[in-house]
Amino acid sequence: MPGTGGPWLGARARRTVIDMTTALVTGASRGIGAHAARRLAAQGVTVLAGARTPAATSFPEENIHPIALDVTDDASVAAAVKEVETTYGGLDVLVNNAGITGPEVAPADATADGVREAYETNVFGPVRVTHAFLPLLRAAEHPRLVLVSSQLGSLSSMDAGRWENYPYLAYPSSKSALNMIGLMYAKTLPDVLVTIVNPGFTATEFNDHRGSQTLDEGTDALVAAVLDTEGPSGRSTSRNGLIPW
Ligand SMILES: NC(=O)c1ccc[n+]([C@@H]2O[C@H](COP(=O)([O-])OP(=O)(O)OC[C@H]3O[C@@H](n4cnc5c(N)ncnc54)[C@H](OP(=O)(O)O)[C@@H]3O)[C@@H](O)[C@H]2O)c1
Repeated sequence: MPGTGGPWLGARARRTVIDMTTALVTGASRGIGAHAARRLAAQGVTVLAGARTPAATSFPEENIHPIALDVTDDASVAAAVKEVETTYGGLDVLVNNAGITGPEVAPADATADGVREAYETNVFGPVRVTHAFLPLLRAAEHPRLVLVSSQLGSLSSMDAGRWENYPYLAYPSSKSALNMIGLMYAKTLPDVLVTIVNPGFTATEFNDHRGSQTLDEGTDALVAAVLDTEGPSGRSTSRNGLIPW
């Protein structure tokens, strides 16, 4: 009798919830996304590693599958949805991780085009990808949506002095927008567990490897959010606890 456990169940049915999890991570060609993919795969998660150039993205792990995905491109995202549906049969967790800094110039010198560049990837990208994958995601038993933000997007934290470490406009404001997007998804999608994660300053190409945290530290919150099926939804988390909006 399916669903009640017991020795008559097939191998797949006996696997744990996490073993049966399929997670898509955008921007998984390198940095935090690639490292999180490896950690999740080690936990038994089937990871679809979104990459702009999947041919150049390879993992030795047999449960990590590169998939073409440019978050700024409607056609690329639509093709990825089709591939996930037909090849992998569903999606339990969507991780919007791809991100760029955009121009690092003083606010007085910030132009609309420069700010738009950051927003295309950091704001419109997650909206595009989430909108396209939501139907597939909501068909899962425990749908989770993870948005990779930054403490530089925390209004209260920046107001309290953090702004001095990063006195630019495009990136911090894009992550503030992403926080609100995550909050609104959480408020309006009761069937989806939404978590906003803040990696912390982590050594990747993003910051010319100046970050003070290791990749393990920088992926703790992301990995925890993917594996969490309890919630509550709508939290802004870090490896050290909640982050104020
Ligand atoms: N590192 C930190 O200290 C830190 C701190 C807080 C938050 N974060 C956030 O963590 C996330 C990952 O950062 P990271 O440090 O791992 O950066 P990273 O090493 O620069 O990697 C960025 C990833 O995003 C991908 N990407 C960029 N534009 C894309 C697009 N249009 N479509 C699909 N993928 C795209 C890149 O792919 P390509 O290889 O194709 O360029 C790469 O895989 C970002 O959202 C960032 O804002 C990072």
